[in-house]
Amino acid sequence: MPPVFRRPFLGAGLGAALAGRARAQPAPEAGLHAIARAKGFTFGAAVQGGLLATDPSYAAAFEREAGLLVPEFEAKWSVLQPREGAFDFALLDAILDWGTPRGRPTRGHALVWHEAFPAWAREAVAEGPARARAVMAAHVARVLATTRLRIRDWDVVNEAVADAPGSDTPQAEGELRDTPFLRALGPSYIDTAFRLAREQDPTLRLVLNEYGVEEDTPWAEEKRRRLLSLVRGMVRRRVPIDAVGIQAHLQMLRPFSVPVFTGFVGALRAEGLSVIVTELDIREGPAVPEDEPARDQLVAERAAAFLEAAIAGGVRTFLTWGLVDRYSWLVTEPAVARRDGKRHRGLPLDGDYNRKAMWRAMARAFANA
Ligand code: XIL
Repeated sequence: MPPVFRRPFLGAGLGAALAGRARAQPAPEAGLHAIARAKGFTFGAAVQGGLLATDPSYAAAFEREAGLLVPEFEAKWSVLQPREGAFDFALLDAILDWGTPRGRPTRGHALVWHEAFPAWAREAVAEGPARARAVMAAHVARVLATTRLRIRDWDVVNEAVADAPGSDTPQAEGELRDTPFLRALGPSYIDTAFRLAREQDPTLRLVLNEYGVEEDTPWAEEKRRRLLSLVRGMVRRRVPIDAVGIQAHLQMLRPFSVPVFTGFVGALRAEGLSVIVTELDIREGPAVPEDEPARDQLVAERAAAFLEAAIAGGVRTFLTWGLVDRYSWLVTEPAVARRDGKRHRGLPLDGDYNRKAMWRAMARAFANA
């Protein structure tokens, strides 16, 4: 007599329900990476190496959705060179070791930036132009030499343009942001960083990354003008720049205009450069609807408009700044988190890794392009 098959721990009802559910479950829908790829786009996301190692659901989400990675912290100056000459690539290597066998390239972020810039470097750069240039050259050379086989795309300078009057963080004067390298070397520090990177690596993609140029406000308009004039000057001076990265930390509070943003992308591309979207996420407004589906719908509409505009302008590469709300800087960083106790829902996946309306809006934008 054949043994009777028994499910000792499941009541018959629950067992049948689970079996039924397993049968009814459709094959998992393709991730954003695959959907984008089918139309010639690349989709990726900022990743935290620590979470890849400790949260299997997080790693699975990246495996499913992200065709391209960018380290959220692990390639910043303060991580790679916390003390002068003491380079540490361990955290960055952990991300590369995860991505490489899975065929997921990593882009670099960021060589020269005024944040995540350690005190020793700030002090050294303030000693004078020769020292400042030497500190920059040593960092660029060592980082690019070490990563050259595994990272082929770097944000060389991040956030070089000053915020205009009217914005959240205006700067009183000057079109370039007041940074340690600007003070030491003047505006040519940007050209210098790109030339140093090119000297180190003749085929690396060199990117100028910027924020605050996406929306339809007077101060974003002014920042677009400043960025375009910076880029045009670099091109005229034959500075080796390949692409402009648009961060796209969008805010629902601000108006967004499809034709304005499409036009701006077109103006950058008319200079012979690629334009990529490097850090997309969406900050909800101060007052949000009570129910989450309604909130998610608003975020999704903004994502749809933004992608439509970017795609129309010729952007082919999109990264979100994280994938899942739970670990988004919009939730964890006090400067940008909500003050009403709610959490921003500005990424494609919610805190439990469920695909939200924003995910579907992005999938549609890629699939219908
Ligand atoms: C942010 C990280 O997400 C935060 O966790 C960190 O505290 C600060 O930096 N523009 C950039 C990114 O270029 O490097 C920033 O990342 C977000 C804004």
